[in-house]
Amino acid sequence: MQLDDLYRRVIMDHYKNPRNRGQFENDSVHVDLNNPTCGDRITLQLKLQDGVVEAAKFLGEGCSISMASASMMTEAIKGKSLDEALQMADQFSALMQGEPAEFEYEDIEALSGVSKFPARIKCATLAWNALRKGVVQVRTESNE
Ligand code: FES
Ligand code: FES
Repeated sequence: MQLDDLYRRVIMDHYKNPRNRGQFENDSVHVDLNNPTCGDRITLQLKLQDGVVEAAKFLGEGCSISMASASMMTEAIKGKSLDEALQMADQFSALMQGEPAEFEYEDIEALSGVSKFPARIKCATLAWNALRKGVVQVRTESNE
């Protein structure tokens, strides 16, 4: 896969030095998700305070794109409300469709080139899908 050099460096930095890799003993949200096309998986945990993401952590096995994306996503959603986090997930979907999208946490834009490689879009989207699933879980539980 040929990606712009600067972007490739940002992605490799997140892969080799992942932000927020690990796990909490107590969390508000816990999601396990796998990428059905390759079997790679991610565990995402969120700590919420008054509907805001106080902290996020992930664990998983996966390719560099999927793990770099998880590192970026968990960093980007800190301090954001669940609505804001979902908006970011939508923006990320747009980026994966090759649309221009700007992120407050700019590192995410390094994944824009993945949109040209349909087979890898699922890798980059895995973490964001885990986030969506987590938000649905919180909202279902709080409506009980
Ligand atoms: Fe128990 Fe996440 S650590 S549900
Ligand atoms: Fe499995 Fe990328 S190849 S997540």
